[in-house]
Amino acid sequence: MVGKMARVKSGLLELDEMLGGGFMGGDSVMIAGSAGTGKTTLALQHLVNGVTMFGDNGIYVTFEQLPDQIYRDAKNFGWNLRKMEDENTLRLVCTSPQLLLESDGGESLLDEYIREIHPRRIVIDSLSHLAMYVDEKELRKETYRLVMHLKTRGLSSLLLWESPQIVGQSFSVTEEGLSFLVDCIILLKLVEIESSMKKALTVLKMRGSEHDKRLREFEITQQGIKVASPFSDYDGIITGSPRKRVTIEEAVGRFSEAFTAKRKKS
Ligand SMILES: Nc1ncnc2c1ncn2[C@@H]1O[C@H](COP(=O)(O)OP(=O)(O)OP(=O)(O)O)[C@@H](O)[C@H]1O
Ligand SMILES: [Mg+2]
Repeated sequence: MVGKMARVKSGLLELDEMLGGGFMGGDSVMIAGSAGTGKTTLALQHLVNGVTMFGDNGIYVTFEQLPDQIYRDAKNFGWNLRKMEDENTLRLVCTSPQLLLESDGGESLLDEYIREIHPRRIVIDSLSHLAMYVDEKELRKETYRLVMHLKTRGLSSLLLWESPQIVGQSFSVTEEGLSFLVDCIILLKLVEIESSMKKALTVLKMRGSEHDKRLREFEITQQGIKVASPFSDYDGIITGSPRKRVTIEEAVGRFSEAFTAKRKKS
């Protein structure tokens, strides 16, 4: 059923192209990346573009920042969130993980907002924050519950995850085993090229769809995220040693290995 749903476009041409046309409707997508890589910016842009370009309403749930700070940061990119809220195309929900997870007879805090604006897109900023509030053993279960809650309401979600910067060969996006629970993973990463730090993104996995396996440079500009061309001249960027010849497929393989090893240990 999900496969037949129309693609949910980010509105970033290059990213949508990498995804074979956009995210699959109803999918849960993890945006993983170390601190300051642009997760919040990408997620906000996805919602804003949803409203302005595709007529999709959206909900932004944050445990991390105060509303004023989000309104201000968004305004710097030219996005007027207050106006969208006034027009009932967007809701900014600042809450705690406990309140979000609480459900009263299957009814959650989100359901009221869902009834109000009939969103197609939702962002949770972030799962890492949620992880701080629930027991490690409970995290997978709670995340699964949340993912299913959003799916049954027909929402396409972006779940942000702060992962440690990947160093050398240990490739761990989600130590908690969350990667099995999501349909798609986008990794944002800082890479060092010719002595300067650049940002890059790659689609690590996407269930049920062809996708670009390459690493693409992106920049955060006054207008938000701009994705550039693939790093065709460099190999091994994803492992942190740009001269070493490693393909993304190998890197993804290492990710799974590291991940499986971790799971066996726990
Ligand atoms: N108006 C702007 N113009 C250009 N670049 C900006 C602007 N605002 C923020 N940035 C860049 O975006 C970066 C932060 O992006 P963002 O907050 O989306 O990252 P994040 O991954 O969500 O970070 P965190 O882990 O702290 O939540 C900043 O470090 C800065 O380099
Ligand atoms: Mg953030």
